[in-house]
Amino acid sequence: MKLADNKATLSFSNGSPSVEMPVYQGSLGPDVIDIRKLYAQTGKFTYDPGFLSTAACQSAITYIDGDKGELLYRGYPIEELATGCDFLETCHLLLYGELPNAEGKKKFSRLVSMHTMVNEQMQFFLRGFRRDAHPMAIMTGLVGALSAFYHDSTDINNPQHRDISAIRLIAKMPTLVAMAYKYTVGQPYMYPRNDLSYAGNFLHMMFATPCEDYKVSPVLERAVDRIFTLHADHEQNASTSTVRLCGSSGTNPFAAIAAGVACLWGPAHGGANEACLNMLEDIQKMGGVSKVGEFMEKVKDKNSGVKLMGFGHRVYKNYDPRAKLMQETCKEVLAELGLENDPLFKLAMALEKIALEDEYFVSRKLYPNVDFYSGIVQRAIGIPVPLFTAVFALARTVGWIAQLNEMIGDPEYKIGRPRQLFTGSVRREVQPLAKR
Ligand code: ACO
Repeated sequence: MKLADNKATLSFSNGSPSVEMPVYQGSLGPDVIDIRKLYAQTGKFTYDPGFLSTAACQSAITYIDGDKGELLYRGYPIEELATGCDFLETCHLLLYGELPNAEGKKKFSRLVSMHTMVNEQMQFFLRGFRRDAHPMAIMTGLVGALSAFYHDSTDINNPQHRDISAIRLIAKMPTLVAMAYKYTVGQPYMYPRNDLSYAGNFLHMMFATPCEDYKVSPVLERAVDRIFTLHADHEQNASTSTVRLCGSSGTNPFAAIAAGVACLWGPAHGGANEACLNMLEDIQKMGGVSKVGEFMEKVKDKNSGVKLMGFGHRVYKNYDPRAKLMQETCKEVLAELGLENDPLFKLAMALEKIALEDEYFVSRKLYPNVDFYSGIVQRAIGIPVPLFTAVFALARTVGWIAQLNEMIGDPEYKIGRPRQLFTGSVRREVQPLAKR
């Protein structure tokens, strides 16, 4: 962090002495006012529910310019990474700060593939779930349970433990997601195949059966790889902040990532792709494209409680750059599978067109986010709707673990402990039961 040449002064209208606070500059983005000594100096807290104006940490991993619609991983634009690199190269970049060279890529891919299997005992753990359990309920349990299997990598303060648990998590997430899927459909689990790419192996574990050969389609493999790359990190979003806060207590990495999985589940975050697809299916049932106008009126009516899922973003006030890439992938996948006339895709395009021209959306700077198209791609590939968020969790694991490790390695890191503005009852006495 670099000190800016100006300072911030906070003054009070009641004559209390004003305080000066240092201002720091990052390499990109807004400066921050350092309020760490504010309470000691004034006896006052700041109030910022939802963290609208609060930088909770310093980070060198991901940068988003929401107004421009720009996303950089370690300085590289997402468009260049999505088109010029694969997911494992992106993982290397997020974890270690640099893209690997050819030799480094081979070594890293090998390292990850050496950890793709999970302990056989995991199968019995899975069996405790109902067959109709939501995959995110299963994933929260399975990821947390990894801490019971890898006692040699649970000390978050040990850099070797952090390194190996990062690799284990990245390597095992596809296996766990595919197992969660196979369990719910009653098919045998498919062991990982380390001769396949990361994305190809995921498709294999999801869709192969022991009865016949499964050939991975290069178009679908590229699409899955792109979904993973686009979702790999997104700076201090709700689930990443959850992982950081959870990890700040010194808990083990598997437990911290399980907390991230739980947070991602919500429909305002990772659950949006599932919610978006459900919304498209509901409109389709109502009558499809002809009902788009009627649906939009509901969305614009504040009392209806209906939102256009896959639209809007806390940070992007412009087109989400990932949505553009996902729209391209969507077209490629539908063409490969002969689904160019897919009614849900047509419906999505009609909704997007109206929303981009409608004053309600334009004035609020609401644009499609990545989830608007990722659901259609996943559904076309054959991934069931309830599994969408688990696929997102798989992809985001590298971001979570890179951010967690960055936090633990930061000398300024402390246990996260927000304060509050208390508005409850002042002190009072408990009355005996008969008098209440
Ligand atoms: N449909 C209709 N109106 C919307 C939508 C939407 N999808 N999103 C925001 N608005 C409206 C709000 O009602 C509000 O209107 P107002 O100013 O008249 O009150 C205004 O736009 C600002 O919205 P906020 O909710 O204040 O914006 P915030 O930054 O808090 O919310 C969020 C962002 C949660 C993503 C929101 O846009 C949303 O719920 N979108 C739908 C869910 C979704 O797609 N989530 C995915 C996020 S991306 C991801 O996790 C990968």
